[in-house]
Amino acid sequence: HPHFSYRGNELFAEDMRASELAQAHGTPLFVYSKAAMLSALAAYQRGFAGRHAQICYAMKANSSLGVLQVFARAGCGFDIVSGGELERVLAAGGEARKVIFSGVGKTRAEMRQALTAGIGCFNVESEAELDVLSEVASSMQLRAPVSIRVNPNVDPKTHPYISTGLKDNKFGVAHEDALRVYRHAASLKGLEVVGIDCHIGSQITDTTPYLDAMDRVLDLVAAIEAAGIALAHIDFGGGLGINYNNETPPEADVLWQQLLAKLDARGYGDKKLMIEPGRSLVGNAGICLTEVLYLKPGEQKNFCIVDAAMNDLPRPAMYQAFHAIVPLTQAAAGAVTTTYEVVGPVCESGDWIGHDRALAVAAGEQLAVMSAGAYCMSMSSNYNTRGRAAEVLVDGQTAHLIRARETAADTFRGEALLP
Ligand code: LLP
Repeated sequence: HPHFSYRGNELFAEDMRASELAQAHGTPLFVYSKAAMLSALAAYQRGFAGRHAQICYAMKANSSLGVLQVFARAGCGFDIVSGGELERVLAAGGEARKVIFSGVGKTRAEMRQALTAGIGCFNVESEAELDVLSEVASSMQLRAPVSIRVNPNVDPKTHPYISTGLKDNKFGVAHEDALRVYRHAASLKGLEVVGIDCHIGSQITDTTPYLDAMDRVLDLVAAIEAAGIALAHIDFGGGLGINYNNETPPEADVLWQQLLAKLDARGYGDKKLMIEPGRSLVGNAGICLTEVLYLKPGEQKNFCIVDAAMNDLPRPAMYQAFHAIVPLTQAAAGAVTTTYEVVGPVCESGDWIGHDRALAVAAGEQLAVMSAGAYCMSMSSNYNTRGRAAEVLVDGQTAHLIRARETAADTFRGEALLP
């Protein structure tokens, strides 16, 4: 992780010493690198150089306003999945016309909100949703721009909870039904068909599922256009994986070189392209600093109890996910390490952050949980009435506090006592 590296024995985030950030803002603390985000984005931009393309950051990965601002200023659009996310985009200075709205359960109110804002496209996931969207748009004397999410039925070989392009899950329209559903969409007066989209899963580290999905989607493009329905854009979703634990996903530009070759070979090279990357833009642009509260040796296992927990970092508990855990100050060469279960203070056995980690640490020292930029803060909770962690965004030698640490009072704001 070039933007989080040791200088001497001290971990730095760009040009800032991590231990000084922890000192200034307390722990647990999320630390993001702006340069890391922009460099991840640059790989996609290189891949699309000279093409008509729009990168829509899938903001569910990290929807903090300061993070959204970085991408909005860099020209990105956004892939949203709720009216709340739309409000965040607008609050961060994003442009509504560059927003696409995904998700299987859009409400009528969210449809009206998005139509009023003037978003670029609704990525529709079912026939029933098409009918409702057409009705809502017609009632506003508008036509909603739509794309239909098709299911290429390829196996992305990732964790079952985050694989979404297979037949037996709730997302999208089956490949076999797609043409019929497009004909239906084209017949509805409140809709304007503008594109086609797919998203096959997340943390994909292999090129093959993408290449297979592209073939399947282009087959549909041919069939749909042959039926007289023009498609202005192809949205290929997100899903590209990152290196958590020595995985070797393709670089975005290398992957797209291969995908674009397929598009060109089939004569679709000048169609507008859209993508919805989330994790690959922010996952390795963030770390979470945490302090060791207690060491608790045991007969079977030794526990390293830290002040970050499953409410801050839910991925290990939810997906058995691996995050590297490293010290902010490296121990001297030859220091004796102990194998620990790194766990948080939450009252659940499932509250673990790392299994079997060799560390040379003492209580009061600090650790960094790596690859914590995606699906950590955005999935955090207040379980055990723990306030959400603070977040800083580092830009060279400057750190901007982009989220203040939540107080207990913040966590029960909006609740009411009985009379
Ligand atoms: N587009 C759609 C329609 C999606 O459902 C998703 C993610 C993305 C784009 C962005 O995918 P990405 O590029 O981030 O892989 N919480 C899980 C990941 C859930 C992904 C949900 N959909 C995790 O922590 O691994």
